[in-house]
Amino acid sequence: MKTAFVAVLGALLIAQPAMSFADNSNGKNLYVQRCAVCHGADIKGTGPLAHKSNPPTPDLTTSAFKQRLHEYPGVIVSSIILRPNGNLIPKTLKENGVKIPPHAWSVKELRDLHEYMSGVISIKR
Ligand code: HEC
Repeated sequence: MKTAFVAVLGALLIAQPAMSFADNSNGKNLYVQRCAVCHGADIKGTGPLAHKSNPPTPDLTTSAFKQRLHEYPGVIVSSIILRPNGNLIPKTLKENGVKIPPHAWSVKELRDLHEYMSGVISIKR
């Protein structure tokens, strides 16, 4: 069921007309508040907790990840909804005393975050 939901979400994301990434302050805020502590402001895996987990936080601006995003546009949203790493992220946050309060994501927020991150990823080389 979850996979189907993500597939539908992926389709919605793609169907949405592209907006200017520079204007996507909502997506950027969500990223900065909830992801940058590990993934880094540049999405290159440079946040303060990036090397506190095993495996460490990957650089998501590599050509390998661009290819992954191209083949599986739902990968960013699914990393939030499906939590493919199980306990890894909550555990890493807890061990390092970082609190990110739980969040009930709306579809718009997921879309904004997806658009912000894909924009930065495709600009970076
Ligand atoms: C506690 C640190 C931490 C936080 C916070 C975090 N991540 Fe990650 N992220 C990781 C690690 C570590 C991996 C690699 C996991 C692995 O290889 O199993 C990862 C992997 C990913 C991937 C790659 C998934 C794939 O299948 O290729 C995406 C996309 C991602 N994270 C998005 C996010 C988003 C979006 C947020 C914020 C909502 C976020 N992450 C918050 C540590 C974090």
